Amino acid sequence: MAFIEWNDSLSVGVNIFDTDHKKLISLANSLHDSITVGSQQGALEPILNELVKYTVYHFGREEGLMLQYAYPAYDTHKKEHDALVEKVQDYYEQVLAGKTSISLSLIGFLKEWLINHIMKSDREYREFFEKRGVK
Ligand code: FEO
Repeated sequence: MAFIEWNDSLSVGVNIFDTDHKKLISLANSLHDSITVGSQQGALEPILNELVKYTVYHFGREEGLMLQYAYPAYDTHKKEHDALVEKVQDYYEQVLAGKTSISLSLIGFLKEWLINHIMKSDREYREFFEKRGVK
């Protein structure tokens, strides 16, 4: 069983974002699996880097569509995105500086954040985009 399993309750009703979320889950699962098999930090860093980069890319796509359609909760949503990016980028810099390591507690935090954010904040835009014909 995968560390994070995709299921329909995670769907936000916008195909490109469901695809993005599946990719993020897949990267988180790869990182988790690499940690649990005891991979060296040097092998984990590129996976974490890709996860951070894809997260930034995905957040930008959501924010772009929100701005395009004047989504009312844009500011609140963007603040959540910015807070995570800042936290994970800081963490990644500490990893590169050898001050901390990529651990199961990090991936546990990312799992909880991702699931909570998709299930609550992301799903809140579902009806908004649905009414505007965005799928
Ligand atoms: Fe799918 Fe708001 O991140």
